[in-house]
Amino acid sequence: MKYSKRMAMVKPSAIRELHQLEHDPEVISFCGGYPDASLFPVENLREMYLSVISMDSMAFQYTHSQGDATLRQQIADRMRSEGVACDADSIVILQGAQQGLDFAGKMFIDEGDTVLVEAPTFLGALIAFNAYEPRYIGIPMDSHGVDPLALEATLQQESGIKFLYMIPDFQNPAGVTLSLERRRMLVDLANRYDFYIVEDSPYRDMRYSGPSVASIKSFDTQGRVIFLGSFSKSLVPGMRLGWAVANKEIVQNFAQLKQAADTQCSTINMKVASAYLKTFDHNRHVENIVKHYRHKRDVMMNTIADTFPNAVAYTRPDGGMFTWLTFPDGFDADQFLRSTLLPRAKVAYVPGIHFFGDTRHLPINNARLSFSACTDDAIVEGVRRMGLVLSSHLS
Ligand SMILES: Cc1ncc(COP(=O)(O)O)c(C=O)c1O
Repeated sequence: MKYSKRMAMVKPSAIRELHQLEHDPEVISFCGGYPDASLFPVENLREMYLSVISMDSMAFQYTHSQGDATLRQQIADRMRSEGVACDADSIVILQGAQQGLDFAGKMFIDEGDTVLVEAPTFLGALIAFNAYEPRYIGIPMDSHGVDPLALEATLQQESGIKFLYMIPDFQNPAGVTLSLERRRMLVDLANRYDFYIVEDSPYRDMRYSGPSVASIKSFDTQGRVIFLGSFSKSLVPGMRLGWAVANKEIVQNFAQLKQAADTQCSTINMKVASAYLKTFDHNRHVENIVKHYRHKRDVMMNTIADTFPNAVAYTRPDGGMFTWLTFPDGFDADQFLRSTLLPRAKVAYVPGIHFFGDTRHLPINNARLSFSACTDDAIVEGVRRMGLVLSSHLS
């Protein structure tokens, strides 16, 4: 076989087969993490595409690898309003935050290098990093995010750590938000123990309750934090637009990697996003979709509270799209899905085992539920059916 060694690490997503269930009309699936397409501002985007196409033939031309300068400026303005010291030169436009994960892997990881990840973490990040063959160490979490004491204990034992990968806001999959105090502590640890932090925050705008918490990047004094943002959840995922905010050397490295990977993001999509931000009140749009998702979150959380047996613990997300279930010790969430929940209740979730980079201590008693793209009726019915089956199974 002439494939590179790397290809052995590039496996189909373990949860792809579960996503197939979304097409089975009998199954209520809480697997997906897609935004609700009925909330896409289609008319406004159509207007912007038409206007950009008719006014600017350069929309069809190549452009800089770092991305459209006006869009970078607009993103910098938004990030600055949230306390992040940056300008247009600190930003590179990416093909979604996902590309930033691949680039972080490419830029930092040599075979066997240690990468710290939350336990659990985003499967897409593991898929991106795996190609570069890191060794993962999972840092345990509680309801305030990663445990800084456990992190420091790891830092004292391990040397040469490249970076810590974090989803501080409404974490995927755990639904928890890292506290302000811990964000400060993390930057302090990064400075003292000399590692980078990749702060992946595609859900940052999607806050439904509680006060906003400043980004880790806003505490960065030594250029150690790479912030990844995205328009996928707050606008649309199909334009594939995200960005990184980082120190200028890293931004230049990202731009070089972009040159190699795909030259640049789509000129037309960047120009349309820029025109959209200029023409419409994006914050207003975010407020509207936040209302909608808040309602879905509440429907799911209330129905869980009413129907799940007490033996099942769950997180209460202040935003994002997910809640994380913890079943009693020894409960095999993957087996329960396949042997009981799907056949008897026609409900699906993603078993927690898929979200751990560090598989040395793999908990089997978790599951991720998403409320983002289901109707209210489907949430109520699916959670109710799950509650019934769980009650009889756990009694
Ligand atoms: C934590 C996390 N990071 C990154 C991404 C990728 O987002 P994008 O569409 O911007 O590539 C997702 C998408 O679901 C995500 O949940």
